[in-house]
Formats: sequence, structure tokens, C-alpha cells
Amino acid sequence: MMKITYITPRDGAEHEVEFKAGDSVMVTAVNNDVPGIEGECGGEMNCGTCHVYVGESWRDRFADVDWDEGVMLDIVDDRRPESRLGCQLKLREDLDGIVVTVATGEA
Ligand code: FES
Repeated sequence: MMKITYITPRDGAEHEVEFKAGDSVMVTAVNNDVPGIEGECGGEMNCGTCHVYVGESWRDRFADVDWDEGVMLDIVDDRRPESRLGCQLKLREDLDGIVVTVATGEA
């Protein structure tokens, strides 16, 4: 079973859940009730409620932020170099063990 861990800084918790290849970081979080990820727009890059930080060791495993994602990230609070929209990050077998931090879960 492949796993992803979501860190929620507000409560310092780590949520380790199983994922299915092809599901996004956002969908996996919503399906597992990870706090701080809402996915309000369903992955249409219109809400920013899937904002996560992807650590350096995992960041290069995804395609770069494209123009559309960048436009949405410009609007979210607390954008950092490691910011991504979870709805745009598709999970794959080789990402087993990935750790992301929920941006909207921060105090
Ligand atoms: S779910 Fe709305 S921008 Fe990702």
C-alpha cells in the first residue's frame, strides 16, 4: 500500500493515509478527512483550498508550476517557493512515502 503523510502545523499532527495512483494530493486528503484541505472547486484551480507545501526532496518529482497554477498560487495566503495546489499533484507509485504540509492548516 502506498502512503502519503499530511502534516497539519496548527495541531502538529501527522496524518498518514493510503493513496491510489492517479488520485491527486487534494482528493486523497478530502477522502481521508485531512483537516485544512477543502478542495472546494473540485480541482479546477479556482479556490486555493488545496494549498500545500512540498518539501525539497519531493518537489522535483512533479512538473513545474504552470501558468494557470501560478495565477491561483498568487492569490493564496502564505505562498512560498514550495507552494503547490494539491489538486494539480497526481500521486504515483514512485511517490510512496511522500510528505506534504497543509498550508491552510497553519495558525
Ligand atoms: S481544489 Fe480548488 S484550486 Fe485545488
